Amino acid sequence: MSITIKNESEINKMRIAGKLASEVLEMIEPHVIPGVTTNELNKLCHDYIVEEQQAIPAPLNYRGFPKSICTSVNQTICHGIPNEKRLKKGDIVNIDITVIKDEYHGDTSKMFAVGTVSQFAQRLMKVTQESLYLGIEQVKPGATLGDIGHAIQKHAESNRYSIVREFCGHGIGKNFHEDPHVMHFGKAGKGEVLEAGMIITIEPMLNLGKRHMKVQKDGWTAVTKDRSLSAQWEHTILITPTSHEVLTFRQEEL
Ligand code: MF3
Ligand code: CO
Ligand code: CO
Repeated sequence: MSITIKNESEINKMRIAGKLASEVLEMIEPHVIPGVTTNELNKLCHDYIVEEQQAIPAPLNYRGFPKSICTSVNQTICHGIPNEKRLKKGDIVNIDITVIKDEYHGDTSKMFAVGTVSQFAQRLMKVTQESLYLGIEQVKPGATLGDIGHAIQKHAESNRYSIVREFCGHGIGKNFHEDPHVMHFGKAGKGEVLEAGMIITIEPMLNLGKRHMKVQKDGWTAVTKDRSLSAQWEHTILITPTSHEVLTFRQEEL
C-alpha cells in the first residue's frame, strides 16, 4: 500500500468524521468519574455514536476487538478493553474513539483524570499532550515523518519519559489504518516527505518508567512491563497546501 492523497470531497468527509469523533470525547467527559465502569463508558459512547451521530464505532469487531471504544487505565498503554471494573479516584484513563461516517474514519483520544490524581500522573499526561502538539507543529508539505518523530522524542526524553515503540500513528481514510507508519521517535529530515492531501494520525504513548510493553492474554491490552504509568493523546491531521488542519480538535482546544 502507498500513501493516499485525498481529494476535496474525501477531505470534507474526513472533516465530518473527525468532528464526530471529537464530539464523543466531549460527550463522555462528565461521565469519567470515580465509580463508573469502563463498560458503562463504552455503552454511553456506543449509543451516542450509533443513535445520535448515525455513525459506526470502528473498533467494534475490528480484527476481533470486542468493544466500541478503547479504555486504557493507568499502566495500560493502549487497546484496553472496557470491562466491569470501576474507575477510582486517582486513576488516569485514555479513551480512544474512532468513528466511521459516510465510509471515512476519524480517530482521536485523550487522557482523563478520575477525581484528583498524583502530580506524577498529571505531569505525565501534560508532557504527553505537549509532545502531540509539538509533533503536530511539524506537519506541513515538505516536512518528513522523521521531523514529527524527532520533535516528540526530544520533548519526551528531555522530560525523562520513555516512548513506546511498538505502536505508531498511521494514515487514515476509508481504512482505519493506512500507510504510512507515523513513528513517535526519529531523526529530523528522515523518512517519507509529507504532501498536501495526506491525512495521518499522531498518537504518542509515553511511560513514566521503561519503554517496554507486553500484551495481556486477551490479545489486545498492552501494558508497561514494569507496570509504570502510561499516557497517550491522539489527533487526526490533514496536510494542507501551506500547513495542516487538525480534524479532531475539541472545543477546549480552539
Ligand atoms: N484507535 C486505535 C488507534 O489509534 C486503534 C484501536 S484498534 C482496536 O489506532 F481494535 F483496538 F480498536
Ligand atoms: Co490511531
Ligand atoms: Co485511536
